[in-house]
Amino acid sequence: MHLLNFKNLSSQELLELIDKAIEVKYNPEKYRKALDGMSLAMIFQKTSTRTRVSFEVAMTQMGGHAIYIDWRTTNFTIADIYDETQYLSRNVDCIMARLLRHADLQVMAKASKVPVINGCDEKYHPSQVIADLMTIKEKMGRLKGVKLVYIGVHNNVCNSLIEGCTKVGVKITTVTPIFNEHSRDDELLEEARKTGLWTTTLDVREAVKDADFVYTDTWVDMEFFLDPKYAEEKERRIKLMMPYQVNRDLLKDSNAYIMHDMPIHRGYEISADMIEDPRSIIYEQSENRLYSAKAILMKVLG
Ligand code: CP
Repeated sequence: MHLLNFKNLSSQELLELIDKAIEVKYNPEKYRKALDGMSLAMIFQKTSTRTRVSFEVAMTQMGGHAIYIDWRTTNFTIADIYDETQYLSRNVDCIMARLLRHADLQVMAKASKVPVINGCDEKYHPSQVIADLMTIKEKMGRLKGVKLVYIGVHNNVCNSLIEGCTKVGVKITTVTPIFNEHSRDDELLEEARKTGLWTTTLDVREAVKDADFVYTDTWVDMEFFLDPKYAEEKERRIKLMMPYQVNRDLLKDSNAYIMHDMPIHRGYEISADMIEDPRSIIYEQSENRLYSAKAILMKVLG
């Protein structure tokens, strides 16, 4: 199976994946040989810290091997994705890819003889959200009925949060004054709407009142962050989004846990003091990328 988003994963399968990640976290020895002799190709068109490290360490700790591949150093740059993937999937047991375009990931999945995991594209970030749901379950002991508020730009992480939360019974409210058109997936939103678990509002103060978790993310996608051509749009976004910053004033009457998928832009989507506030579980959340990566790898590799 591939993991490109959560569309082909039942609620039960997603719940099992989350529980497996928690189980692996507390029983690492049990899984030391789970992927013995297996190889994972990790191919990146974009930068990464957590996704790269967590999947590579997950393979090592379970007896396997990971190969980091910078897209720009390969012949993917001069050839067809389909042909290059045909080759790649004949030499490894699994591919994890962080590509700019979901359409290219779909070509890769079609060509591949082995499972393909989405390491984040412009539409989805499923491996992140499995770690997020795992973190929520660890804190609350349950998922059903928990309320998460996402404050930020409607982006890839937001899509996967909406998809993942509504599949496992988490109530999610999104406060997203900006919508990334390149992340649009109307079908995903329509499915989420039908569950009655997803609401959206611009009233950020009302939204956080009864939240169990407040989650934020970058206002600018990583591929544009340092792009001089994007500077004007970046400034526009900062101005528009600043009233939605996660800060002490916004959370003055709240006991909600604070989440962020990282990398963090201190002083923008979140004020610096909130990162190490007692309510913040950001670093635990990022640590959980490792255990969720292990659970994902075991799931797709059977
Ligand atoms: N959250 C996340 O995917 O981190 P990286 O971009 O560093 O992999």
